[in-house]
Amino acid sequence: MRIIKGRAWYRGRLDALSLGIDDDGTIASIRKTLRGDEEIDHGDALILPGAVDMHVHMREPGLTHKDDFASGTRSAAIGGVTTIAEMPNTLPPVTTAMALDEKAATLKHRGVVDYALYAAPRSGDAVGPLRNAAAFKVYMAPSTGDLQIGPGELEGVLREATAHRKLVVVHAEDPSKFRAGKVLSLVDHAAARPKDAETSALAILDRIRANAKVHVAHVTSREGLDAVPRGATCEASPLHLFLDMTRPLGAQGKVFPPLRSREDREALWDAFRSGRIDAIASDHAPHTLDEKSVPFDQAPGGAPGVATSFPLLLRRSRAGDLELSRVVAATALRPAEILGVPKGAIEVGRDADLIVVDPRRIETIRAKRLRYKCGWTPFEGMEGCFPTDVYLRGEAIVEDGEPAAEGRGRLLRPSA
Ligand code: NCD
Ligand code: ZN
Repeated sequence: MRIIKGRAWYRGRLDALSLGIDDDGTIASIRKTLRGDEEIDHGDALILPGAVDMHVHMREPGLTHKDDFASGTRSAAIGGVTTIAEMPNTLPPVTTAMALDEKAATLKHRGVVDYALYAAPRSGDAVGPLRNAAAFKVYMAPSTGDLQIGPGELEGVLREATAHRKLVVVHAEDPSKFRAGKVLSLVDHAAARPKDAETSALAILDRIRANAKVHVAHVTSREGLDAVPRGATCEASPLHLFLDMTRPLGAQGKVFPPLRSREDREALWDAFRSGRIDAIASDHAPHTLDEKSVPFDQAPGGAPGVATSFPLLLRRSRAGDLELSRVVAATALRPAEILGVPKGAIEVGRDADLIVVDPRRIETIRAKRLRYKCGWTPFEGMEGCFPTDVYLRGEAIVEDGEPAAEGRGRLLRPSA
């Protein structure tokens, strides 16, 4: 048995522990001391559950000039993410069983981390054939990939998803609240797709949700959080927690839904600290610098982020701004629960997906370090605590901060 030692997050606190890892990559035993054939001692570094990022766009197949599965999942591992859920707006879009099967075949043996695949049913009738997807994604507004559906179709998807006991992740913006006008800056962009588009979409969702298992993607404001249907879960992106429309990012900061004001950002932080946000998800949505270097209104929406969510949050925790328990819950435990995957906690029987990190080692974020194919990050120059080592099912995929293994990622089958 392989033993990994360090100050591990177990049952809600840090303790000097030994984790015994079975040959199948699950955690077999957790004790003060354990003996095994191979012992890896991480001293007083922290061992936390690997992050589960339930909202990424790795761009394969079809858009691999922006990112690809090997590259995107390598960046994920560098940032401590050991499981991703991959969005369906690739080319062809994952709206049919055939596209889903082909996407799974294309990605096979190429992921550095474990992965689940979303599909995008365009109506209730499409849900049954797509039941092999881990979960569904629906867009209530236009975004990259033209997958928007109307409230009638959404109602059908929610009804059928309930019958199949599937999670539905919702991009909640109501396009009838969008405002016409020149969009030349981040401030214009936020005015064009305002907060009431978010609250209005959530009110519609609340009316038609019935008993569906719903998760609201990237909430941007306090008002939005207040409008999340009772019983639904929600996520926020570090984009909306660490950046706002006052930053000089130009089109690199153009994302859907838009960055908001500094006050909105602070309100989102307060809500996060007090436990009102279930999950942190990056919405990693890379576009090339060339694609972003056009007039603001023509630039695509989206920014990369899979490698920076955990490091940014751990840095804030180290600074005393955020409880470590919140970081672990929002990056690992809750997203694993919401997706229904055996991840997200250091527990006997769970997969040994682990982050080893020394919070005293603070780095300035540089795009080069993240290995993004697109070559840029909107968080350039901010501080982060990156993992030194990352384990996927007990095997090192990052060592000394550098990628150490490729192609070990497995497709996670839906639990329902
Ligand atoms: C995403 C993309 O580019 O794929 N863009 C974004 O701004 N979030 C699409 C999306 O998830 O809306
Ligand atoms: Zn997205």
